Amino acid sequence: MPAYITTPIYYVNDRPHIGHAYTTTVCDVWARAMRLRGEDVFFLTGTDEHGVKVEKSAATKGVTPQALADENAAEFQRVLKVFGLTNDDFIRTTEPRHEKQVQYFVKRLLDAGSVYLGTFEGWYDEGQEEYYTETRAKELDYKSPISGRPLTRATEQNYYFKLSSFQKRLEDFFAANPDFVQPAARRNEVLGRLRDGLQDVPVTRTNFTWGIPFPGDEKHVIYVWIDALFNYITALGLGEPGGLLATQRAKYWPAAYHVIGKEILWFHAVIWPALLMALELPMPRRIHAHSFWIADGQKMSKSMGNFVDLPTIEGYFAKYGLDAWRWYMATQGPLQASDSDFRAQHFHETYTSELVNVVGNCPSRVTAMISKYFEGKMPADSQAGGEWPAKCAAAVAQWSAAIDELDLVGAAQAAMSLLREVDAFIHRTEPFKLAKDPARTGELCSILAQCAETVRIAGVMLEPFLPEKMAELRIALGQGDAPAATMAERTTWGRIAAGTQLVKCALFPRVEV
Ligand code: MSP
Repeated sequence: MPAYITTPIYYVNDRPHIGHAYTTTVCDVWARAMRLRGEDVFFLTGTDEHGVKVEKSAATKGVTPQALADENAAEFQRVLKVFGLTNDDFIRTTEPRHEKQVQYFVKRLLDAGSVYLGTFEGWYDEGQEEYYTETRAKELDYKSPISGRPLTRATEQNYYFKLSSFQKRLEDFFAANPDFVQPAARRNEVLGRLRDGLQDVPVTRTNFTWGIPFPGDEKHVIYVWIDALFNYITALGLGEPGGLLATQRAKYWPAAYHVIGKEILWFHAVIWPALLMALELPMPRRIHAHSFWIADGQKMSKSMGNFVDLPTIEGYFAKYGLDAWRWYMATQGPLQASDSDFRAQHFHETYTSELVNVVGNCPSRVTAMISKYFEGKMPADSQAGGEWPAKCAAAVAQWSAAIDELDLVGAAQAAMSLLREVDAFIHRTEPFKLAKDPARTGELCSILAQCAETVRIAGVMLEPFLPEKMAELRIALGQGDAPAATMAERTTWGRIAAGTQLVKCALFPRVEV
């Protein structure tokens, strides 16, 4: 089954920081998990390069917008490599492949009567490049919810998208697809705003030039948000000649799982679906709007200078390793409705209590005992796994159901519980005592073989989170480093043949504060 996961495309007037790294890492864990399961995955990220913000930043720096975009897009791409992220494509909105398809889609909207030329007056948030309705502006006390700066009253002659005419269809769509927006708190916000009624939205601007020209009326440029949203389908080539059916990537639409931050939910949950409706294209599968990382209890902001930036992140890589960073992002991050506080102390505690004490320690104990009592050779298990094959199968099923829901905490938990059970099993059965009694060697063999096999299966489930360390674990368990088999095969009980040479492993060293 084709699966498609996307991050927002990031503005190039900014340097990569924890926010970008977070969303992209979440998507990467999911993409790896889906690939592990044998799904045909397409994972997209990229950069959003047009608009007045980029034009202004470039002017301040005394470079052309394109030069600024080239420099920062290259930086985002470099960072993806440093983080070991496995995106299948990287789309830039200044690429000709994107620009010409956006023009094609906008022209289709115009021809269909969904876009028209009109005059508009409204409350405008300059920083966000977003208009608000009177009701919404009042709620916000006429201040930007992001920057806190006053909203301005703006009038423009522009091309508009008839968003208002999609009110009923959107309401029906939300009613029929209760899971479309996740988490539920975010969906309720969207429904609340939808009840206020929809107004038409501008799709062009004339107050600056750094954008895609409007087809047929080139003094207008296409509004950056409309331009940007289309990336999700231009990357698949849906607006190429021949369209939906012709391109190789067309199979990934509408399998899309759009992962975004909560501040850009309205565009994704309302405007994007309406644009697709107007184009008679199918709806994406889901919009998942996560919350925010804050720092030491405070909102991260550029003006406060407390953004966890790239040098800070690289400091964590150096101290704890890349996998530890991924683990913290995936299991402690703001994936659901509440914000997460990034604290060095909490990072350290999570590393120690989960990675050192469980994911590192359990395999280390098991391989150490097998080394000590059986010269590292996998013992034979006369009990055929006892209760463990069923436990592992249940954990894999739990992992898989969690992955379906982008519940990374639940998926990690499924593997962690198995490892904790193995620890408890060792504690209960005391193999180190059995080892002293030659009459009980058979029992000892079974216990350690069952532990090793369960650790192996938990390791498979942890691969999307901890790809480097789990590759080490595979080698320690005599499983080679390039597994070609599917998840189903690899989580089948009994793949470590008796007699296989295992190696003692220490995956996560203790780190001093
Ligand atoms: N270019 C638009 C998105 C267009 S998508 C069609 C944009 N870009 S952005 O560079 O500002 O990136 C916003 C995204 O970065 C958020 O939606 C979120 O994914 C991520 N984050 C930025 N700051 C964040 C936190 N403090 N915490 C978590 N993620 C945040 O908006």
